[in-house]
Amino acid sequence: MDNVLKPFIEFNIPAIEQEMYQLVEKIQAPAHLKESMLYSLKAGGKRIRPLFVAAVCEMYKQPLAPSYIVGSAVEMIHTYSLIHDDLPCMDDDELRRGKPTNHVVYGEALATLAGDALNTLAFGVLARLDIPAEQRIELVDLLSVAAGAEGMVGGQILDMDGEQRLLNLQELETVHVNKTGALLRFSIESGAVLANAPEKERRALVEYAHHIGLAFQIQDDILDIEGTSEQLGKTAGKDVASDKSTYPALLTLEGAKEKLTHHFEQAVNALGKIETNTVLLEQLAQYIVKRSN
Ligand code: IPE
Ligand code: IPE
Ligand code: MG
Ligand code: MG
Ligand code: MG
Repeated sequence: MDNVLKPFIEFNIPAIEQEMYQLVEKIQAPAHLKESMLYSLKAGGKRIRPLFVAAVCEMYKQPLAPSYIVGSAVEMIHTYSLIHDDLPCMDDDELRRGKPTNHVVYGEALATLAGDALNTLAFGVLARLDIPAEQRIELVDLLSVAAGAEGMVGGQILDMDGEQRLLNLQELETVHVNKTGALLRFSIESGAVLANAPEKERRALVEYAHHIGLAFQIQDDILDIEGTSEQLGKTAGKDVASDKSTYPALLTLEGAKEKLTHHFEQAVNALGKIETNTVLLEQLAQYIVKRSN
């Protein structure tokens, strides 16, 4: 199989980043707030969420420009979630994307507010998209569910509970589906909204996204054990140190890897229900399970 992912990534990441930086640079806001927002956005990251939005649009041969804006919005939410996740009251981390965490550089108050500002900006960005109003409202609605109490924020709460007691597998799956899966699902489903995908295929994409979300967080948990801080750009061994409920903690490293393979296979199976060529989404799934950062 040709590697279609590599050229796709090389072409699209610079375009996504250019769009996202412009969206923040043009806002009228106190200089140190903007600086703190841009510090975390520009620190890097794999940009996997915006790549998913673009990949679904590419699959349906849609123009990619709107996908860069939707991708920027979800990357802003993701980046805010990382700034808050690293705060002393949460995971208390000092390294992120290979750099000191936002609160280490700017202090806890500014870091918290930079996260808040990225969170709210994301919705404004979607509201101003140059697409039919119905689609815009649908995207705002989907993102508010994915990012909020029924999605990422809810998952973060359950994840914190998992430090106090060992969650069972069903509870842990709920944590993963929400804290990580919800934004990935939005990334994939928003591409289907932009492309006006047939309902049946949209459902198949959501099924793919469900397994991608689980696989992504299981690999994150595995890398916390097998990776180094240098390679990950964040502190390795954090989950064990904080007694966090994770797939490896519950199932052993080997059991976690079996689950990872299972969800990868289920993700690829779901793509079988789509008529269009899904090679790009297949290669993104492979990238997620094989990644080392
Ligand atoms: C890290 O996300 C936090 C999780 C949801 C597992 P990523 O691994 O996508 O982090 P970046 O964006 O590449 O830094
Ligand atoms: C964080 O999960 C997920 C969100 C920020 C929503 P983790 O706490 O496992 O992420 P890392 O390992 O710090 O990137
Ligand atoms: Mg966390
Ligand atoms: Mg963390
Ligand atoms: Mg982690």
